[in-house]
Amino acid sequence: MTLPTPRILMCRPDYYGIEYEINPWMNRQRQADRTLALAQWQALVDLLGGLGAQIELVPPVAGLPDLVFTANAGLIFHQRAILSHFRPRQRQGEEEVFAAWFASHGFQVVRPPSEHFFEGAGDALFCGATLFAGYRIRSDIRGAQWLAQELGCEVIPLELVNPYYYHLDTCFCPLAPDTAIWYPPAFDAYGQRVITQFIPRLVAVADDEARAFACNAVVVGRHVVTNTGCPHLHEELVRQGYTPHQTPLGEFVKAGGSAKCLTLRLDGEDAAAWRQMPVEGSNGSS
Ligand code: ARG
Repeated sequence: MTLPTPRILMCRPDYYGIEYEINPWMNRQRQADRTLALAQWQALVDLLGGLGAQIELVPPVAGLPDLVFTANAGLIFHQRAILSHFRPRQRQGEEEVFAAWFASHGFQVVRPPSEHFFEGAGDALFCGATLFAGYRIRSDIRGAQWLAQELGCEVIPLELVNPYYYHLDTCFCPLAPDTAIWYPPAFDAYGQRVITQFIPRLVAVADDEARAFACNAVVVGRHVVTNTGCPHLHEELVRQGYTPHQTPLGEFVKAGGSAKCLTLRLDGEDAAAWRQMPVEGSNGSS
């Protein structure tokens, strides 16, 4: 079976900046250089395009500086886009922008109940048939329970315990249905045990590389794209048969994001088992 071309949603950083502080990486005194940010973003686009991905763009909006982090638009499951409902009010304005984009691009927009916070693919990642859902700092645990019902799949909630690793995609990255990168100290002892029980092949990153957002990787087939500053992870990926790529994303680290945060896989992540399956089992796919 040939898989479709990978499709990735991104947003030009025309209005990107550090305008508020909603995670420990952000400091308004450490402003992003917008020209450099645009160059870094364009280099990521070119790199992903070179790996065969088709890049789709949501138009930037003035006053929504974090719209560039499209991983937080929602969670894609077949033709359904489970829309995010952001905990920080500063990002709530993004919800309708992403809803409109999804609706006009053939996705059925599903909204979580308004009392649940849910930050999309930043906090919900498939590894095989199982959805791993980060909670507490941004998304909440009841949102994860609602997701399990809505998608009809097994959802493993993982409590995030370190404010620097506030979204699951900052400390966990599925590479294949049985393989993931992770940063163990971002989880409590129970979460660590669950991850080791469910995922047979785990690549742990050390503190300094976690701080360089090593876990925030974009996976396209056997290619893995990260920020610079993750040499040990890259060596290990080569040993495991992957092809790592690095590209500088320091301007986005200032907002607490890196490669993965700047992307949303529209056709399902490579590690998601549903991507390899016929389109069915999704009640009401359009
Ligand atoms: N400044 C953004 C926030 O704190 C960064 C989001 C990064 N996105 C991600 N998927 N981790 O919400």
